[in-house]
Amino acid sequence: MSTDCLAVILAAGDGKRMKSDLPKVLHPIAGLPMVAHVIRSAKLAGISHTAVVVGEKSELVGECARRANEMSTIHIQNERLGTAHAVLAARELMSSNFNEVLILYGDVPLITPNTINRARKSVAQGSDLSVLGFETCKPFGYGRMVMQGGKLTSIIEHKNASEKEKKITYCNSGIMIFKFPYILDILEEIKKNNSQKEYYLTDAVEVGINMGLRVHALDVDEEEILGVNDRVQLAHAEQRWQFRRRRELLMSGVSMSAPDTVVLSHDTVVYPDVTIEPNVIFGENVLVMSGAKIRAFSYLEGARVGSNAVIGPYARLRSDTRIDEGVRVGCFVETKTTYVGPYAKINHLSYVGDSEIGSRTNVGAGTITCNYDGYSKYKTVIGEDVFIGSNTSLVAPLKVGSRSNTGAGSIIYKDVSEDTLAIERNDQINKEGYAKFLRNRNKAKKFRS
Ligand code: UD1
Ligand code: CA
Repeated sequence: MSTDCLAVILAAGDGKRMKSDLPKVLHPIAGLPMVAHVIRSAKLAGISHTAVVVGEKSELVGECARRANEMSTIHIQNERLGTAHAVLAARELMSSNFNEVLILYGDVPLITPNTINRARKSVAQGSDLSVLGFETCKPFGYGRMVMQGGKLTSIIEHKNASEKEKKITYCNSGIMIFKFPYILDILEEIKKNNSQKEYYLTDAVEVGINMGLRVHALDVDEEEILGVNDRVQLAHAEQRWQFRRRRELLMSGVSMSAPDTVVLSHDTVVYPDVTIEPNVIFGENVLVMSGAKIRAFSYLEGARVGSNAVIGPYARLRSDTRIDEGVRVGCFVETKTTYVGPYAKINHLSYVGDSEIGSRTNVGAGTITCNYDGYSKYKTVIGEDVFIGSNTSLVAPLKVGSRSNTGAGSIIYKDVSEDTLAIERNDQINKEGYAKFLRNRNKAKKFRS
């Protein structure tokens, strides 16, 4: 007998209120599309196959779903005839390969693997249908969970509820889990018997009970089932996601003195004993190792920061940056496709792209790698213990050998071998007294007219 679970993710809504050309479920939270958050949580709860039900064919949704889980399929619900009808769009997959079928929603992105695990466990413990319910002080619009003697007996949609039923504050999250094969029997039994002429998945409760099945309610935190219909709710979900992830990082040993000002990405990895100062933004694909300090107002994406490195304030690490142990990257420094070796320093006002910088090398203030000629990118390779003078332009392709120096203000366009001083600079001429002469002449010019 299978112990696997099929997750059916409903996403056939048109998302009009987002006012967007992008399908609603592809709007991102922490840089990851909402539907991918849902798929990821399912996967983390051990669910192998996710079936996404969409209203019309969407290559973008399909690609996104497969990126989140290669065992994802897309199913089209041609007509929106209700939530029970939507689930049936994935019927072809509902076979004895699965022990249970979980219903999730593409626009309910904050559901956690832990909650999904609890739902699966209820089936393992003998439930045939479990519905996730939540307590709320704003029950308006939700289906109400009618409980009798501690048992769920039915769900009444808001629009069909009596005044008394409307007072119920225990609501249907929409998330349910069905034991296979009862789901098929139940879905076949659900009729369009309500005023809206829709097939309501919520009718599964009464139908199941009438079939003699074991139906249960499980509690879930209201925050986890927060739905997104417009951009205000999207921003709210983002905020809750950030809050939750920051809290996890704090609990795992990361210091943040103003966590509310730190923006994380869905995939940010931060090791214990890292300090993150206020107003730091993480784009995708960043890893920060123990002991590192990310100082205020820095923006990192596609970067790996080694242990005990100090980044910022006001640093900008761009894609494919690898910072080794103990490195210092200071104020107004931008890096891209660059490796910085252990204990090297790039402390002030620099652009370092397509480069390799050896251990302990010091890159002076205002150093620029000239890596692009308008068509192609070229590489700058700097050895160990090099001293790059301030305001050096390094014209790539270029190699600077270990233990060499470049003179301040030089444009270095020829390779420099080891232990060499490279200096490119015109002779300085000092004309004594000439400044005074100029001053007098210019003053006279101004006041003549
Ligand atoms: C539904 C529940 C309600 C619950 C609420 C939680 C039903 C009948 N009602 O109500 O009890 O409290 O969710 O938010 O299930 N969808 C499709 N195809 C359809 C219809 C819906 O894919 O034909 C998808 C929608 O895109 C949406 C989800 O199912 O993501 C819920 O549908 P919606 O019409 O918003 O249901 P609610 O009225 O909110
Ligand atoms: Ca010069």
